[in-house]
Amino acid sequence: MTSNSILAYCRPGYEVDTGNELTRLTAARGCYGYPLMKAGEAFVTYQFQAPAAAQEFIGQTAVDDTVFARQLFAVIGKITIEDTADRIGPVLALLDEQPPPRCGTLMVEYPDTEDGKTLAKLCRKFAVPLRQALRGKGWLTAKEQLNLPALHVFFVAGDCCYVGISQPRQRSPFANGICRLKFPPKAPSRSTLKLEEALLTMLSEQERNEICRPGARAVDLGACPGGWTYQLVIREMHVEAVDNGKMDADLMATGLVDYRAEDGFKYRPQLGHVELLVCDMIEQPDRVAELMAAWLVKQWATHAIFNLKLPMKRRCETVYAAIQAVEAKLASANIKATIKTRHLYHNRDEVTVAVLRKS
Ligand SMILES: C[S@@+](CC[C@H](N)C(=O)[O-])C[C@H]1O[C@@H](n2cnc3c(N)ncnc32)[C@H](O)[C@@H]1O
Repeated sequence: MTSNSILAYCRPGYEVDTGNELTRLTAARGCYGYPLMKAGEAFVTYQFQAPAAAQEFIGQTAVDDTVFARQLFAVIGKITIEDTADRIGPVLALLDEQPPPRCGTLMVEYPDTEDGKTLAKLCRKFAVPLRQALRGKGWLTAKEQLNLPALHVFFVAGDCCYVGISQPRQRSPFANGICRLKFPPKAPSRSTLKLEEALLTMLSEQERNEICRPGARAVDLGACPGGWTYQLVIREMHVEAVDNGKMDADLMATGLVDYRAEDGFKYRPQLGHVELLVCDMIEQPDRVAELMAAWLVKQWATHAIFNLKLPMKRRCETVYAAIQAVEAKLASANIKATIKTRHLYHNRDEVTVAVLRKS
């Protein structure tokens, strides 16, 4: 018998939103259950009612299909370790009872909390002998094979962990579900990391190369001091940067930036159509969503990447309502696009939306 639950990692403080989203996604698939979470723990478990529903859900749902989950796995079991001198024995005992499929990689992880970070060293040390032991049992391939399921051991305390399985192509490739990036020293603001993470994780390499190609045109609404514009300029795009604030002088010196001190809600692209619209204005999410949809419907931009600032409450509902409004506007104009929405690691109280038009 498996535990028939899944575990989702999230940003601390977003447990309720993650739980609400899992309830919404599972209901949309016609399977039911309930989330269990504690505020600040940076993870949520979701218990299914129908037998085998957890495995089925995890097989059908990519982490990238969710807004708030950073990683998702089907739980095999939760272990309380009585003797911390031997943490491997209890994991192997659980897997002896419920043998996993042959896995191609092992991920030993911890929640993104202050307490969780104290477990980082333990996780690193524990992974080496556990990997050996799993290989000895034939549950882990000798060489890493990312096209196979991953075995997760998620420590929530030094003496307590969840063990489970994620599916290839559905899971996040990053440890703890976190895409860490180095701050580019010449970028004018830390916000640059938000757009960089979005470009790296929400677009395929092909989409990135096609959309952010040298010479292509972009508009950046709410651009100052220029962190997002910087990401486009390093890809040699021409950017109309719209904001009343002050733009970084080095970016202006590239000759690729056309600065416009105007209201982003009234701005029109100077030379007609652009390839990419980006927007980081701090405004009501429904207003921003409406503006983005209008640009796409009017064919002022082919694609859009934008942030939606989240309210204090009902964040999941607010995001889904904004996205549904964009979907409805695009559908009524017969525009086919894929929409991805993610609470990225470098985001705070905001999510990033990428609307990519299908050719
Ligand atoms: C979070 S900051 C943008 C940071 C920027 N993306 C970066 O990477 O440096 C939000 C910006 O939106 C601008 N803004 C807010 N409302 C605006 C509006 N209606 N029109 C133009 N800019 C606006 C603000 O002046 C501010 O500079």
